[in-house]
Amino acid sequence: MKGEQGMQRVLSRVAVVVVAVFAVTSGCALFEDERTAKGRKLYRHYCMHCHGESGQQQEGFNWERMPDPRPRDLSESEAMSTFSDEEIFNTISRDMRDTTLQEVLDDENYFAVSTMPTFKYTLSEEELWAVVGYVRTLHGGSLTFDVEGRKAELESRFKAAETAHDQAKQAMDEALAKQEAEEAARAEAEEEAEEEAEEDDEDMDMEDDEDADLEEEDEEEILLPEEEAYEKVAEQFEAAKAAWENFSKRPRMTQIARPDLTVEETEKAVLEEKGKSLYFNKYGCNGCHSIGDVGGLVGPALDRAGFRLNDTWVYRWVRYPQGMKKHTRMPNLGLDDPDARAVTAYLDTLRAPKPDKPIPLPE
Ligand code: HEC
Ligand code: HEC
Repeated sequence: MKGEQGMQRVLSRVAVVVVAVFAVTSGCALFEDERTAKGRKLYRHYCMHCHGESGQQQEGFNWERMPDPRPRDLSESEAMSTFSDEEIFNTISRDMRDTTLQEVLDDENYFAVSTMPTFKYTLSEEELWAVVGYVRTLHGGSLTFDVEGRKAELESRFKAAETAHDQAKQAMDEALAKQEAEEAARAEAEEEAEEEAEEDDEDMDMEDDEDADLEEEDEEEILLPEEEAYEKVAEQFEAAKAAWENFSKRPRMTQIARPDLTVEETEKAVLEEKGKSLYFNKYGCNGCHSIGDVGGLVGPALDRAGFRLNDTWVYRWVRYPQGMKKHTRMPNLGLDDPDARAVTAYLDTLRAPKPDKPIPLPE
C-alpha cells in the first residue's frame, strides 16, 4: 500500500517535470502547430484528391485518372528534402504558363506541369506558407522559412509606410494652404496695384492682365516639392499595403462583369482551337475535369458543357470561381480576359451525346 502511494508520487512528479520541460522547450512550437493545423486543413481541401492524405501516390481518388506526369510521392523524404521551402512555395503559387512554349520548358526556375494548379489567386501568402509547412510534415520535415519574421517585416513596413504617408500628406496640405494664402495675398496686392495703375494710365490695363494670366499658367504646371514628395511616398505606401494585404488576406477580385461574348464567325475556329490548347497546356483543366475517358474526376465531366452551361456563366466562373462559390475546390487559375474568352469558346464546342449509363460521381 505504502509502496504504491510512493510510486504514484514519483510518477506524478515525473509527469510535472515532463510537462514543465515540454512547456519550456515548445514555447514557440505551440504557435507553429497552429499554423501546421491550418495547413493540414487547407491541404485536405485543396490537395488531397490528387496527392493523397499522406502524400503517397495512388492514394487520392483522382490519382489514377491524372494524365502524366502524375503527382510524385510527397512523403518520400530523400527526394522531397532536395526542395527548399521557397521552391515548394513557388510551385504552388506561380503564374500558369503555356507549356507548349519552348522557353517555358527551358526555364529552370519554372515548374512547367500544367496539371498541378496554382493557388496564388485562391489563398493568402500566409495560408500558402501554412500549406508548405504541412507538406514538410508529410516527409518528416518541418518548415525552416521564417514566416513569423516575414509577417513582422511586411507588417512593420506597411505601418512605417502608412506613417510616412500621413506625414507627407500633412506637409503637402500645409504647403498647399500656405501657397493659397500667398496667392490670395498677392492677388489682393495686384488688384490694389491695378486700381492705382488704372487711375494713372488706362492703356496699361490690357498688358497687366496678360502678365497675370501667364504667371498663373506657369504656377499650375510646377508641383511644390511637398507634392512631389507625397506622390513618391504614396506610391511606396500602396506597394507596402498591397504586399501586406496579399500576405494576410485571400486575393479578391471585384465581381467579374457580364462580358459580351459575340465572336465573328470567321474568328470562331481559331478562338476555339486556342481555348483547347489553353485548357490542356496552360491551365491543366484536364487534371480535374474529364472529357470522355480522359482527365481527372475532381470536378464534373465537361463532355456536354456546350449543352449544359451558359457561356456568360462559364466565363465568369473560370475567371473567379470563389466569387461565385466561396469554398469551391476549383482554384482561381488566374485567367485573364482573352484566355477566359478562348476557354469559354472551347467549352461551348463540347457537345457529346447523352451517355447510356450515368457517369459515376467521385467519392
Ligand atoms: C489536380 C491535381 C493536383 C492538385 C489539386 C494539387 N497538385 Fe500538386 N502536383 C500535381 C501534379 C500533376 C504534380 C507534378 C508531378 C510532380 O512533380 O509531382 C504536382 C506536384 C506537386 C509538388 C512537387 C513539386 C515539384 O517540384 O516536383 C508539390 C510540392 C505539390 N504538388 C504540392 C501541392 C499542394 C500543396 C497542393 C494543394 C495546395 C497541390 N499540390 C494540389 C497535381 C496536383
Ligand atoms: C483542382 C481542380 C480543378 C481545376 C484545375 C479546374 N477545375 Fe473546374 N471545377 C472543379 C470543381 C471541384 C468544380 C465543381 C465546382 C463546385 O461545385 O465547387 C469545377 C467546376 C467547373 C465548371 C462547372 C461545371 C458544371 O458542370 O457545373 C466548369 C465549367 C469548370 N470547372 C471549368 C474549368 C476550366 C475551364 C478549368 C481550367 C481553366 C478548370 N475548370 C480547372 C475543379 C477544378
